Amino acid sequence: MERPDKKNIVIFASGSGSNAQRLLEHFEHHPQIRVAALFSNNPKAYALKRAETYHVPALLFSRDEFYNSGKVLEQVKAFNPDLIVLAGFLWLVPQNLLHAFPNKIINIHPALLPKYGGKGMHGINVHTAVVQAGEEQSGISIHYVNEEYDKGEFILQEYCPVHPEDTPEELAARVLQLEHRHLPLVVEQLLLEKDEL
Ligand code: GRF
Repeated sequence: MERPDKKNIVIFASGSGSNAQRLLEHFEHHPQIRVAALFSNNPKAYALKRAETYHVPALLFSRDEFYNSGKVLEQVKAFNPDLIVLAGFLWLVPQNLLHAFPNKIINIHPALLPKYGGKGMHGINVHTAVVQAGEEQSGISIHYVNEEYDKGEFILQEYCPVHPEDTPEELAARVLQLEHRHLPLVVEQLLLEKDEL
């Protein structure tokens, strides 16, 4: 039986959803926090299936429902989110959501922002750019979301090496491990700290 007093996480994901999976696993039996819903803009997103496997509502939406009609805002509100997590979500978040949930929307980015962020910097593009630049380090950035891609205040950055012989795919795998390790812990910490305020 679900406790009504649990904190609610709403996830937005556009793709595979391996980070969403980590959140679903981590909070499946958590006493204070639940994943309340997963939203996706992509009918092919495997993330939707992952949510269904955990009996978490999975909602697909259109560009119009996100940016114009206000339908997504109303649907998200219905889940009463304490935190909204963008886990591989590719669309810019509109003002109506930012205003409705100030300081409650976070994103995970697979590089050390402020470098290697912004429009088009997602997926393998990020790791290709890091390898081509000859960086010795990469990592993850978990940050609050504002009206620009990848620009909000940092919550956590974690680092990993880039080896000279790395392919973008090898680097991507190393960074993804960091994401999977840290995202559930950061989400948990944010929600439990907020609880104490
Ligand atoms: C991750 O690298 C995340 O940092 C980025 O998009 C990717 C999503 O991977 N925002 P997945 O869908 O969670 O597997």
